[in-house]
Amino acid sequence: MNLPIPWVMAPMADLTHACFRDLVAQWGGCGLYFTEMLNARIVASSRPEKDPYCAAGLKDRPRACQVVGDDPVVVAKAFEKLQALGRFDVFNFNLGCCRGMPARYGWGAALLQRPQRVREILREARRVLEGPFMVKMRIPEGPNETAQRWAELLHRCGVDAVVLHARYPRDLFKRPARWDVLKQWKRLLAIPLIGNGDVFSPQDGLRMMEETGCDGVMIGRAALMRPWIFSDLCHLRATGTLPDPPNVAHVVGQYGLLLRQRVPEREAVRRFRHFAFWICQNYSYGAYYYHKSCRASTLQAMVETLQGFVSRDSLPDYPVRPFMM
Ligand SMILES: Cc1cc2nc3c(=O)[nH]c(=O)nc-3n(C[C@H](O)[C@H](O)[C@H](O)COP(=O)(O)O)c2cc1C
Repeated sequence: MNLPIPWVMAPMADLTHACFRDLVAQWGGCGLYFTEMLNARIVASSRPEKDPYCAAGLKDRPRACQVVGDDPVVVAKAFEKLQALGRFDVFNFNLGCCRGMPARYGWGAALLQRPQRVREILREARRVLEGPFMVKMRIPEGPNETAQRWAELLHRCGVDAVVLHARYPRDLFKRPARWDVLKQWKRLLAIPLIGNGDVFSPQDGLRMMEETGCDGVMIGRAALMRPWIFSDLCHLRATGTLPDPPNVAHVVGQYGLLLRQRVPEREAVRRFRHFAFWICQNYSYGAYYYHKSCRASTLQAMVETLQGFVSRDSLPDYPVRPFMM
């Protein structure tokens, strides 16, 4: 599986839909864009071509879709339908989510306690998928040989690459990511490893690669706060320096425009609120900016209110540290 550049945008529910992916593309792009997680049951039983969660952007290539579920037949059916759309370059199965709907159903990271079921799901998915197939997982709990067993399982099931979010499910987001485990997994895996967890600056991204030997770096929260972080990473690696940050009010305006052009007003307002929650965390008074902007009832008013705040404030240097979750 060859990525044009090794920086990957993480799948994030309510956030990484087509408009956000195109926003990232407009600000320099990344090596692989992810959809939000897609519920296998819904995809398998409906028409994904009409589903806004499965929509393609205009510039977000290569594009990966992520499926969450626990029934091998249903998951394979969902992948088959997504593949038939012809919109996705990479297919990903979620073994990492430990909150919300997946946690309630025993999907996502909960499946790490059921390796036999995971094996069945991956085999079935691999059978129907022609394109590159990845999993995204947290660190499985267990004795020392657990990592080795998982490395073999993934390889035998024909998985092409692994994203490891370097936390145990029980860590949630409460303790720092365990980059030492990435290093250990890199030594064990016969397939490429994409490291994930706590990259809060372009410098962190380069450091994760150097310290762990991973083949790519996935960025989640920092990309929500700075959708241009991937181009900063490319610039840093090429020149050793960081470019000036963009005008944040302009980024906010562009995102508003993308939503207005493609999403009905009600949904656009909801999507913009999620976006504002993260962009505002760049600023000391971000919680205030967020609550004030979200009080506006139209997309236009929200965009303008937020633009007013961010254009009067200055963007701090990296690293970005989210203070609301
Ligand atoms: C708001 C939010 C939504 C997320 N949704 C998903 C998801 O749909 N699928 C998934 O595999 N991980 C999801 N994650 C986890 C991220 O993909 C990523 O693994 C995690 O944030 C760690 O990376 P980071 O430290 O760069 O943020 C989500 C994380 C956040 C903060």
